[in-house]
Amino acid sequence: MNKVFIQTYGCQMNVADSEEMFAQLAARGAVLTEQLDEADIVLINTCTVRDHAEHRAVSFLGRLASWKKEKPGRKIIFAGCAAQRLGNALQKKYPFLDILSGAKDIEHFSDTLDKSGLFGTPALPGRLPAPGLTGYVTIMRGCNFACSYCIVPSVRGAIKCLPPEDILQNVACKTAAGAKEIMLLGQTVNAYEKDGVSFADLLNRVSEVPGVERVRFTSPHPIYFTPDFLNAVKANPKIARHVHLPVQSGSSKVLQEMKRGYTREIFLEKIHALRDCGFNISTDIIVGFPTETEADFQQTLSLVDAVKFFIAYCYKYSPRQGTPAARMKLLPEKVLEERLDILLNKVRGFSDAAYQLQVGTHQEVLMETETKGRSSENFWVKTKKKYPVGSLVHTEIERADGTLLFARD
Ligand code: 5AD
Ligand code: SF4
Repeated sequence: MNKVFIQTYGCQMNVADSEEMFAQLAARGAVLTEQLDEADIVLINTCTVRDHAEHRAVSFLGRLASWKKEKPGRKIIFAGCAAQRLGNALQKKYPFLDILSGAKDIEHFSDTLDKSGLFGTPALPGRLPAPGLTGYVTIMRGCNFACSYCIVPSVRGAIKCLPPEDILQNVACKTAAGAKEIMLLGQTVNAYEKDGVSFADLLNRVSEVPGVERVRFTSPHPIYFTPDFLNAVKANPKIARHVHLPVQSGSSKVLQEMKRGYTREIFLEKIHALRDCGFNISTDIIVGFPTETEADFQQTLSLVDAVKFFIAYCYKYSPRQGTPAARMKLLPEKVLEERLDILLNKVRGFSDAAYQLQVGTHQEVLMETETKGRSSENFWVKTKKKYPVGSLVHTEIERADGTLLFARD
């Protein structure tokens, strides 16, 4: 029986894609292993959003040359976003690679395996690995935006929404296998619309599937947070009150050059409306976009001050070949590093402050271990007593220490 070692880089969509690809290998008799040296197949699912992510995946592939030499019958599959971008150039550089399967081919991964003739025929049901407490469910693929710095639309293609029935069936499989929380995934997840079902409808229908205690989603785009959506959320407590909403910059001028489709003011209005529904908000920020002046950067700092994000992931701008911004003149690396440092120092403080603000509030905690779980707003909470994993505990928050809350239970 073949053993598969999976190495996944990048976002949660990639984690879900790796599960789907594994299901196809499992249908051909393969089982998972955590040990590279006992594996017969390595599946590398890759990211290319920044140069660094792609570099890590390709260097992992390079290191597998000796692994393959030890037993030449071993197989290597390089899949996902970097595979899509690098294409055949990679196959030439690493001739020991058996299968290259780009992000656009994931839905046809079964055919790719069959065409290679290396993995046998699918004789078993294509079982997904058992989910943990959270079941990841892809609801849409691709992106219809054209943000000037971003490679995703070119490697993932245009939006394709999955039929609601398929999504609900997938959710039911996940809960039957023990998931209590469902994370709906898509590049612009809240742009979902299929067969007359809107994103808000889908959230409600998913939360009605037996066994679903909580529904999360990522990553949304600010412009799709409409009043309709917000009203639907208000009426449904199973929708977790945390949203990861990338802002990218606090300057309307840079946002326009990034082609984000909103201004600083519109973003702030959306934040206001989301906070009204009780949402805790985290974000992504890019520093050093080619046209970012010192004044633009100050605007980003003042936006961070105004919003006080719970978490902000901050990145130095990384030019991606083929994107419009890649033709622009880069700012000096020293400027990028300085701005990143300043921004990181600022955002760190807000995370601790967000935890402090939870003291005295009442929370519903979904237990991930016997003594630790997450609140709807996505804060980590430690309990005094022990509870079964997967249970919901209602408790008041007694105190906060760094990025951990302590329950009064
Ligand atoms: N350079 C730096 N960061 C980027 N991101 C996307 N493209 C780039 C790029 N070219 C960041 C954005 C996005 C996150 C997933 O990665 O902040 O939200
Ligand atoms: Fe990376 Fe984007 Fe691909 Fe996710 S979709 S793996 S973030 S390039």
